[in-house]
Amino acid sequence: MYLETFGCQMNVLDSELAAGALRALGYRFVDDSNDAGVILYNTCSVRDHAEQKVRSRLGEMAVRKRREPSLVVGVLGCMAERDGQAIFHKSPVVDVLCGPSELDKLPALLDNAVRTRVSLVGDRLDNNHRCNAVIADRSAKVAALQGGASRRSATLSAAADHLELLDLSRAISPSDHNGSAYVRITRGCNKFYTYCVVPYTRGAETHRPPDHIVDECKRLADAGVLEITLLGQTVNHYRFEHGASVVVGGVTQPQKGRAIKPNMNSARHGAAARVTTFADLLKRVHDEVPAIKRLRFVTSYPRDFTDDALQVMRDSPRICRYLHAPAQSGSDAALTRMNRGYTVSEYMEFVDRARSFLDEPEKGRPLMLAGDIIVGFSGETEAEFHETLTLLERVRYKSCFIFKYSPRPGTAAFDRLPDDVPDEVKRRRNNEALALQHTISDEISQGFAGDVVHVFVEGVSAQERKRQASEQVQTGKYAAVTIGGDAVAGGAAPVGQGAARRVPINGSDGRVQMTGRTDGDMIVHFDAPAGLAPDDLVGRIVPVRIERASVLSLFGALA
Ligand code: 5AD
Repeated sequence: MYLETFGCQMNVLDSELAAGALRALGYRFVDDSNDAGVILYNTCSVRDHAEQKVRSRLGEMAVRKRREPSLVVGVLGCMAERDGQAIFHKSPVVDVLCGPSELDKLPALLDNAVRTRVSLVGDRLDNNHRCNAVIADRSAKVAALQGGASRRSATLSAAADHLELLDLSRAISPSDHNGSAYVRITRGCNKFYTYCVVPYTRGAETHRPPDHIVDECKRLADAGVLEITLLGQTVNHYRFEHGASVVVGGVTQPQKGRAIKPNMNSARHGAAARVTTFADLLKRVHDEVPAIKRLRFVTSYPRDFTDDALQVMRDSPRICRYLHAPAQSGSDAALTRMNRGYTVSEYMEFVDRARSFLDEPEKGRPLMLAGDIIVGFSGETEAEFHETLTLLERVRYKSCFIFKYSPRPGTAAFDRLPDDVPDEVKRRRNNEALALQHTISDEISQGFAGDVVHVFVEGVSAQERKRQASEQVQTGKYAAVTIGGDAVAGGAAPVGQGAARRVPINGSDGRVQMTGRTDGDMIVHFDAPAGLAPDDLVGRIVPVRIERASVLSLFGALA
């Protein structure tokens, strides 16, 4: 079996959970798709570009399936949900469809598809009756999609949430990770930004019970995980209402309602220690799982950021000083068309407030902000675009993704707003915004020169891996050991998470370049000292003195 993941961190986690469930049933994953009889793509629909990559993979598989009729191909995730059964017609190579809200059904779907495929191919060989095989072929297709299912209520307690089983049954073993893991706290999204497909593919927002989240973090910590990233589309919107029962996998379970310790955050709710807010949840994970040395969360929605969450961050030394809080545009008019629900001045008020709570460079803890911007959204004028450039200058993100607007079928903007910014204008604005962000990121990086930063070591650097691969070809000097298994595409995954890594034996100069991140998510490269197995550094937090910086990374030596 081969699994390739496209897109966001949520997809990386979905892939990890789905792969864990399949492994437990005896399926084995390989790194090379050519060695696999079952090919799965966990897809992303946020931009057309992401979907195109999958379409081209499906094209390659269609060619292969002509030679290998027993091949089973599955499309998982948002593209499956968005395109629905139409994929079977557009890409007849696809046998299995499974939407992101139905991944708990994947093992059963695959079992079905593999058996049917094998028996069909057998029939075809036996009878040599092509026509029958083609008809039967259609009936072999299997799908689990949320489709038009009614949107569920916000709190999981009101929902028969079969998907919760997938997270609950997460297989955690010390060899599965490099010290870092994702934990979902919220599924779906209710925001309905006009450009965004997520509410249609991942469904309504539901919040996981806090006890489930804390227990999962504890189990990860027991397996040696030191860094946890909590995930949600609007992660700081988390809010769990206690009291009702939770139905998991058809079984009603009372919420054991571990009493929420009274603290400044819940006081606000009066009798309501019956609600766990995002601030409460952060505090619980931080306080109840001290073995987690770094706690982060993505992605934040700027308007929902309350002071109590910022206070918990300030008072909790193991919560990272890092916020990914996209603005999307620096123009009020564009933000209104996007239905973002805030103005530029409200966004800047949030940035200033976050900095006033959390930016402590003198203590070696600057607040690092990251963002996302969409250029060329429907109706974007040159003046509006320049307001976005001004926003970049004012916020000074340490990094910011700049995306060209990609109209997504099914969204409000697709139906109601023209895609009227020509592609060459989108491209030029994208380049201009990137160039400005480049300068800002470079200035921020240079500011670290001479500092000692604490680096969570993720693995051997990509450059080092390239260097070794070429040396390996020339000399055969390095032992190539593959860890992990599932290929991760899309670049959003932490280095090494689920991705194949090569573990080197130190070269003759004794140096191996390692990579890791600061608590503010700055990427740091440094050399592992001679004689130390690089693997011994992975998953540890080490002090590094920064000697020089480039736009994207800092370079230094162990301090
Ligand atoms: N076109 C371009 N970028 C988009 N994003 C979401 N939808 C679109 C779209 N239709 C971007 C946003 C979001 C990130 C995950 O992807 O910036 O924050």
